[in-house]
Amino acid sequence: MTQSPIPPPPAEEPGKVLDGAAAVTEAAGEVHTARTLEDTQGPTENEILRVENLSVEFPTDDGVVRAVRNVSYSLREREVLSIVGESGSGKSVSSMALLGLLPRSARVSGKVLYRGQDLLAMRQKELRSVRGRKISMIFQDPMTALNPVHSVGDQLAEAVLAHELVPPKHALERAREMLDLVGIPQAAQRLRSYPHEFSGGMRQRVMIAMAIINNPDVIIADEPTTALDVTVQAQILEKLLEVKDAVNSAILLITHDLGVVAGLAHRVLVMYAGRPVEVGTTDDVFYRTRMPYTAGLLGSIPSMTSAYGERLRPIQGTPPSLINMPTGCPFSPRCPLADDTCRSSEPPLAPTDGAEGPDTAGPDAGGVPVAAHLASCHHWERLAETDDPTAFFRNGGITP
Ligand SMILES: Nc1ncnc2c1ncn2[C@@H]1O[C@H](COP(=O)(O)OP(=O)(O)O)[C@@H](O)[C@H]1O
Ligand code: SF4
Ligand SMILES: [Mg+2]
Repeated sequence: MTQSPIPPPPAEEPGKVLDGAAAVTEAAGEVHTARTLEDTQGPTENEILRVENLSVEFPTDDGVVRAVRNVSYSLREREVLSIVGESGSGKSVSSMALLGLLPRSARVSGKVLYRGQDLLAMRQKELRSVRGRKISMIFQDPMTALNPVHSVGDQLAEAVLAHELVPPKHALERAREMLDLVGIPQAAQRLRSYPHEFSGGMRQRVMIAMAIINNPDVIIADEPTTALDVTVQAQILEKLLEVKDAVNSAILLITHDLGVVAGLAHRVLVMYAGRPVEVGTTDDVFYRTRMPYTAGLLGSIPSMTSAYGERLRPIQGTPPSLINMPTGCPFSPRCPLADDTCRSSEPPLAPTDGAEGPDTAGPDAGGVPVAAHLASCHHWERLAETDDPTAFFRNGGITP
């Protein structure tokens, strides 16, 4: 039997994939997200985006910043893939690189295949026809993305007219429909409002309207709710998932908060020091954790921690310098399991035992890791031996 290069869609049992994680958050009485993916459409088998060995370096006066190192992943139609990691782990740089949005000084290598076409090899003009139309972005701060001197309606209509030859009246009508869809009351009147006349949450809804107005295949949402309070955060994420179904797009959801993704993502990619360190279904990453850094992140989610009957334990220490990376595993200075092997060689991202579903084949013929559950750790078996991997971070690293 030939192995599909893409893991089987968790969509076959969409409820099951995420029920576990959602149950934990609910059991702890602290729901990060208002709903699970149960009622959204799951991914298809078709790959829409494939990132291969993406690396980004910034030459600076202090040396070369290796911001992104060999990032590979695939995204299927209608899939929600979350990229998670502490601040500075390369989440934004890796996603901006996809659309050619980095400063000129950036040295970018690898491939970004959108429906088989390499975006990194495209001319600016071609890339512009993809950007905002086939792949759109939602940023953390809508005030920097919206123009303060134009009405929201004009800006939304402009986004349509940039890619389509339609009468302006039609573009404005589409803008109204989108405002309606994202839950802005009295959409027709609000078309004439300026960005500063909206609250933070409502502005983020406008950004979502802007991101979906051209029916994109992929929406990249980079910390879309970080600036908002928790209740509004949940409403916005819920809306994002709702509109995702309306326009049938896939989402790359970038966040520093692993707690946010439990009820939202089909799969999770955890980044540390510029590279992926664990990739799997949401259940794999939450319940069959195979990388100590992920366990550390889980230990710092309030609801997960209380579900284990533990107190919140942030990971001690700080991420390494991206200019002078330590030899060996970049997480070793902070890892309770670190030994001489860890300090001398950096572990590859490799298949673990924790995979859900039949596709555990590991890197496919193209060398891209798309197996269901991968981790970058010499000692992932140690995590497989315990029910509570967050306990490795208890009492200064005494193992369970
Ligand atoms: N233009 C730049 N020049 C030099 N270093 C940069 C530049 N942009 C980002 N970086 C560095 O790249 C690393 C990754 O940044 P980023 O992707 O923004 O992190 P994240 O989004 O995960 O918080 C950080 O150490 C950041 O300082
Ligand atoms: S390789 Fe070693 S230092 Fe790195 S995460 Fe695994 S156990 Fe920790
Ligand atoms: Mg960022």
